[in-house]
Amino acid sequence: GHRSQRSGHRTSSSSSVSVSVLAVDPIERFKVRCAAYQQPKEIVCFSYDEERKLSMGSDDKLSYYCEPDIQSANLSSGFPDRYVMREPVPERLDALLESMRHVNSRPRDPNTPPLRPAFCTWRGIMTKVLCAPFSRDRWELGATLHDGTIYIEEHEKRKDLYGSTDKDKLMSYMGYKFEALATIPFPPAELSGPSDPRLAERDSGTVNTNVQFCSVFKTKIGVNSIVMGAEVDCLLADRKPERDPQSAYAELKTNRVITNERQQQSFERHKLLKVWAQSFLPGIPTVIVGYRHDNGRLSHIERRRTLDIPRSVRGTQPGIWDATVCINFADAFLTWLKEIVVIDDPDTVYTIEFDGRAASLLRVETGAEGPEGPFIPPWYRGQS
Ligand code: A3P
Ligand code: MG
Ligand code: MG
Repeated sequence: GHRSQRSGHRTSSSSSVSVSVLAVDPIERFKVRCAAYQQPKEIVCFSYDEERKLSMGSDDKLSYYCEPDIQSANLSSGFPDRYVMREPVPERLDALLESMRHVNSRPRDPNTPPLRPAFCTWRGIMTKVLCAPFSRDRWELGATLHDGTIYIEEHEKRKDLYGSTDKDKLMSYMGYKFEALATIPFPPAELSGPSDPRLAERDSGTVNTNVQFCSVFKTKIGVNSIVMGAEVDCLLADRKPERDPQSAYAELKTNRVITNERQQQSFERHKLLKVWAQSFLPGIPTVIVGYRHDNGRLSHIERRRTLDIPRSVRGTQPGIWDATVCINFADAFLTWLKEIVVIDDPDTVYTIEFDGRAASLLRVETGAEGPEGPFIPPWYRGQS
């Protein structure tokens, strides 16, 4: 099918193949040698406090993993009275741009050029791109070329911002509550023992989703350099390693206990794809899954090595996802974006849509307003 263009962008509409469309199918063309993924390197981090105040360069809100007490844990306890949900206001790329500005204004070797990646975006956006070949989820992006870097934000549809129904809210809450029960804000070595009162206090606090720790890292997919920002759940060590902090980060996940083959297949097909992509991108080596019952009780906890996840699902069912295809699709997507997003202007936004099967350029707009308009703020312009 061909998609009509609302902009004047030229497409070769005489055939079913358009230069402004990148389809998933035929998927075989991504089943080739995997594009190189450079080991991600953290360049800066930041923390958000309970009021959503940002501290650049701070790992204040990076908490430490500490096994929850499975017997007493209940992921629904405290809901909804001890739940502070972050206001669903679009924050766009601001914190990431602030990170870039911070990195480039830091004193550095005079022979080192400023950091100018080909791409700059949130990890969550690249997760969607990696998963696209094996997911029917739709998404829409805004892309702007500014001083040689393509910045990408997501045009979030209202209902994506937060769970809309009370049941959705409880589901989200349980994910965050697991984080609260599985972490402490100080190194576990400082605990006096298993009866340290601070362990039990984890259950009595408020779950506040304003609080976050984010890592900003640089990497390369094939030839394309990219800077991404990612929320990191916890540290699996007694302190943050100075070199390669990623090696000690861990991703926390919850999942309903699996009781039959169909649930196992769905877990492998959907959840493991997302959690692999999400953790692989920032180079987070460990995923800790808390399996819960419907009533919020924890059943058990499992650790998985991120890099072992693709092999663990291979050949388990027809049409199961393949990490090589994901990475090669992401590589092709970035290369495709570079061909399309060519006007270097902070007021020009290219809108890209993924309809579940193909990515296409929807429109090119200059100086529009609103949530899908330009997102490079004045303070980030003309300072390079
Ligand atoms: P689970 O994924 O374990 O259910 P993350 O895993 O990315 O660190 O996110 C932490 C929790 O935030 C999730 O835990 C989930 O509860 C909630 N969450 C994340 N993304 C969400 C979304 N798009 N909609 C609703 N809740 C979300
Ligand atoms: Mg998280
Ligand atoms: Mg998590």
